[in-house]
Amino acid sequence: MRLQGKTAIVTGGGSGFGEGIARTFAREGANVVVNDLNGPAAERVASEIALAGGRAIAVAGDVTRRDDWQTLFAAAIEDFGSVQVVVNNAGTTHRNKPVLEVCRAVLPFLAVLLVGVLLITYLPWLTAVLRAG
Ligand SMILES: NC(=O)c1ccc[n+]([C@@H]2O[C@H](COP(=O)([O-])OP(=O)(O)OC[C@H]3O[C@@H](n4cnc5c(N)ncnc54)[C@H](O)[C@@H]3O)[C@@H](O)[C@H]2O)c1
Repeated sequence: MRLQGKTAIVTGGGSGFGEGIARTFAREGANVVVNDLNGPAAERVASEIALAGGRAIAVAGDVTRRDDWQTLFAAAIEDFGSVQVVVNNAGTTHRNKPVLEVCRAVLPFLAVLLVGVLLITYLPWLTAVLRAG
């Protein structure tokens, strides 16, 4: 139980790596806030964690939207009181293709990864919440 008493937001937690991280954190005792653009997927992961005896809530939202980050943090604070960990996992990419064909195709996907990380990193109110936690 290495994360007992901690609260972790996992973005893109509705599938893939994020789902695995959310489940592992819950098994280690964390309160998990499962975020995903795909609300039903986030709900599924959070309810399966709860059925297995863990603590999790689902919050649908897009990590490239400032308002959605605010909603995400507000829900985490309301349910669990503080936040100690944010796993910036949400992202997507192009299908596998030769590297010389990648350049333009990759730009919209990079935007999701970069904007999401910048919003969480530079918004002063978010860093204040994390420090308080
Ligand atoms: N699978 C790989 O081999 C691999 C390799 C390197 C990096 N990655 C990165 O790891 C992360 C997870 O990859 P995965 O394979 O688990 O992908 P995945 O598609 O299974 O899961 C990504 C999840 O993020 C969600 N998501 C996408 N955009 C979002 C947004 N704007 N806001 C909130 N949620 C959003 C999706 O709905 C999805 O549920 C991604 O950032 C991916 O680019 C994956």
